[in-house]
Amino acid sequence: MYEEPREPFGLLDESHAGDDPMSLFLAWFEHAKQADLVEPTVAALGTVGPDGRPAARMILLKSVDERGFVFFTHYESRKGAELRQNPAAALTIWWDRLTRQVRVEGRVEPISPTESDEYFQTRPRESQLSAWASDQSEVLASREALEKRLAEVSARFAQGPVPRPPHWGGLRLVPAAIEFWQGRANRLHDRLLYTRRSDGTWSRTRLSP
Ligand SMILES: Cc1cc2nc3c(=O)[nH]c(=O)nc-3n(C[C@H](O)[C@H](O)[C@H](O)COP(=O)(O)O)c2cc1C
Repeated sequence: MYEEPREPFGLLDESHAGDDPMSLFLAWFEHAKQADLVEPTVAALGTVGPDGRPAARMILLKSVDERGFVFFTHYESRKGAELRQNPAAALTIWWDRLTRQVRVEGRVEPISPTESDEYFQTRPRESQLSAWASDQSEVLASREALEKRLAEVSARFAQGPVPRPPHWGGLRLVPAAIEFWQGRANRLHDRLLYTRRSDGTWSRTRLSP
């Protein structure tokens, strides 16, 4: 059982961390949500384009469980297109007040349409309309063009609930490796790297800071 470390510098030792990185992540995530951070669910998502060049942008983690890390986006955006061609991705999270970083690497796959529908229905109506109005990552002629598009979709769906656009939904990063980094005094930070074996169990190693 993982126990929270003491402030100001936490412990990340093998006996606390255990063998299952997803349990450890969920404990850290819960701690981050209670730590009065501006946005504990923000993560940087790295993808690789067809030319081999990496790109990164922030996303919000909307759910995490033993299957992986879920965020929502436009499937035809730059990231969506890059991930369709090359599903390898990396997520990096930084919880400033806790001096903690988590790095996740793995393969991205779409979540089920039903799961995407369920989440879309929980979104405010304005966000639902924006998902229809924005061709994410495409060039826009002007701000006015975007607002005109929003007015059009608002009129189109004026009479009832807004359905989920087929181009919008969740992606899940299925982790192959997860590294936990705990900042400590004098740059002697703790790093534990978990790597998934082919049988689904995890191996754990300690890395130099
Ligand atoms: C704090 C923060 C959270 C964000 N969350 C998301 C998100 O959950 N999904 C998303 O598609 N874009 C999100 N964005 C916008 C992305 O960073 C990015 O601009 C957009 O997805 C287009 O990226 P792309 O052109 O590489 O596909 C967020 C931006 C910030 C600053």
